[in-house]
Formats: sequence, structure tokens, C-alpha cells
Amino acid sequence: MLRIGNIQIKQPYVMAPIAGYTDSPFRRMVTGSGAGLVYTELISADALVHKNKKTLMLMKYSPEEKPVTVQLLGKNAGILAEAAGMAMDAGADIVDLNLGCPAHNVVSNGAGAALLKKPELVREIAAAMRKALAIPFTIKARTGWDEDSKNILQIVDIANEQGVDAIAIHLRTRAMGFKKGIDMQSLIEAVRRSKVPVIGNGDITAPQDAKHMMAASGCAGVMVGRGALGAPWIFGMIIDYMQDRGFVLPSLPSIRETVLNHLHFMVEFYGETKGVKLFRKHLVHYSRGGPASPLLHARHSSDFRAKAVIIDKLEPLIKLINGYFDYLMEVDRV
Ligand SMILES: Cc1cc2nc3c(=O)[nH]c(=O)nc-3n(C[C@H](O)[C@H](O)[C@H](O)COP(=O)(O)O)c2cc1C
Repeated sequence: MLRIGNIQIKQPYVMAPIAGYTDSPFRRMVTGSGAGLVYTELISADALVHKNKKTLMLMKYSPEEKPVTVQLLGKNAGILAEAAGMAMDAGADIVDLNLGCPAHNVVSNGAGAALLKKPELVREIAAAMRKALAIPFTIKARTGWDEDSKNILQIVDIANEQGVDAIAIHLRTRAMGFKKGIDMQSLIEAVRRSKVPVIGNGDITAPQDAKHMMAASGCAGVMVGRGALGAPWIFGMIIDYMQDRGFVLPSLPSIRETVLNHLHFMVEFYGETKGVKLFRKHLVHYSRGGPASPLLHARHSSDFRAKAVIIDKLEPLIKLINGYFDYLMEVDRV
């Protein structure tokens, strides 16, 4: 059971925020497959308080995505508190503070993972945001800046003390970037220490990984990141597996339906040309496959990608997608 403040999360399987991917159309895809909670991508608190149009667009969502977490990035307590209030007024169910972004332009400015080096500032920011928010408030942190300065337990203590409602932990330090391998021990200790739910994150690409993380740590929920790109159905697989029903990879016809639905959501949200162009990166993930997708070993896919990335109209793209799946199904039958 995962409860964040006064919000009961239906399934404790959470879609991670991923800049450039977890927009409203993608969030509709994962909640449709069973994800219990979704996030916007990180949103700059400074840009939000300046009412930047593109930034405001990042907070738009449709009802089936709820509950939606708006994630804020910044380093100034006053600005973050003001932005938190704006996110709440715009309809966010939960507001989250980013303590994990490793990007150079972010950390050199003192935000994201760089805040882990300043726990006193984290305390000040958390207090200000908590005061500004009448809805649940969460943080998402890495385990520390680097191996020598790992301080996630200190961050957990600050979060508990400041009334944060849940803590998601990406089980890598900033120095680890996105390299394979996660620090399960930090999760075990954080779960033991925290009075509020802890959500574990890192390297979940198949249902077994989710089950293992929950069993090994006792965490209240798990968060899937890159493993859901090109495989939004992974949440349904995790739910089945956790309920001892086993799981099956989706069939080619059902993947085709998923891809076309996603494309339609994109066009609905962004309009035709922009929606089709922004869909290219998703198509790359769909056609590459992964542990949660049977397209991992599909032939013909690089050819398909080369063609897909130069199309900017809906009808020709649908035709190309249909042709690709027809071909795969033909090959499958042989
Ligand atoms: C391209 C990319 C963009 C990301 N954007 C965000 C973001 O906006 N906010 C955030 O908290 N984490 C962000 N992350 C980190 C993920 O949320 C997640 O913590 C990380 O990928 C580890 O999970 P995974 O191993 O399941 O992918 C991003 C990761 C990637 C690869």
C-alpha cells in the first residue's frame, strides 16, 4: 500500500520523471497500463514564476493521468515556494523537489543533485515549500553527490523533520551518472529510517526487478524510468507478476495498437506536425525493444527508424508503422 499524504496510490508502481519523454501523452499511456503515479518532467521554478509559456505547458494534463506530480527544479527557497504554490493552483495533486538531476548546466548552477552537498539549504527549501503547499509534497533524490559524500540518510531525516510526504530515491550517486548497478543497501537503510513512504528507483526493466527491489528493501513502491520507454505496458506486467499471475510480453498486434494510440495522443496534444516529430524518439524506443518488449530482436527495425525520422505528417507515418508491423508479423509466422 502506498499512501502519499492524503492520496491513496492505487498501485505502488510509479513512472519516473524523464525530461523530454514523460509529457501528458506518455503519462496517459503508462496510467492506462496501470502506473499508480506519474510525474511531469523537471520544471524550472524560475521559469515558472516568470510564467514562461513553454513551462506552463509542461504542467498540462488530462484527467486519466491523475494523480499527477509536478516536479520542480531550483535552488532558491522563496522562488521554489512560489512555484510550488503556482503548481498547486494549476491542479497538481503532488509537488516534488528535484534533488537528483546530474546535468552539468543544472549542478553548476547549484540545483538538482548539487543541493545534496548543501543539506542546510535543502532544509530551508523543504520548509518553505511545505509551508506553501496544502497538498502532498515529495522529494526525489540521488543517494549523494559521490561515494565519499553519500548522505541520503541525512536527507531522509531532513525530509521527515520538514513534513515531506514521501521520498523517491534513485539508487545512484551523482558521480555514478546512469551507469548500470544500483545501491540497494542505501534503500534498505532509508526504508528503515524513514517515517514516510520510500520509493526505490533504478534499473527496473522487467517485473522481476520490481519484485526483487520491494522484497529486498521493504520499500513502499518502486519507480520505473528508462525501462518504460518504448514499453509503457511494463506496469501491467509488473502488476500481474506481483499478484503471482506471471506475466507475458505483449503480442505484435497489441504493440501496434499501443504505438498508434500513443501517436494519436501526441497529435491530439501537440498538433500534427509537432506531435509527429516529437513521436520519433518514442518510435526509436518502441522499435529497439528491451527486456519488457519482444521487439528487442526484431529485424528490419533500423530501416524502419531511418524512414520514420524523416516523416512529419500523420497519415504517412501510420502507413509506415502498419507496414513495419505487417512485416514483423509475417516474419513471425515463418
Ligand atoms: C533522459 C533522462 C531524463 C531524465 N529526466 C529526469 C527529470 O526530469 N527529473 C528527475 O527527477 N529525474 C530524471 N531522470 C532520472 C529518472 O527519473 C530515473 O531516476 C533514472 O533514469 C533511474 O531510473 P532507471 O534506471 O529506471 O532509468 C531522467 C533520466 C533520463 C535517462
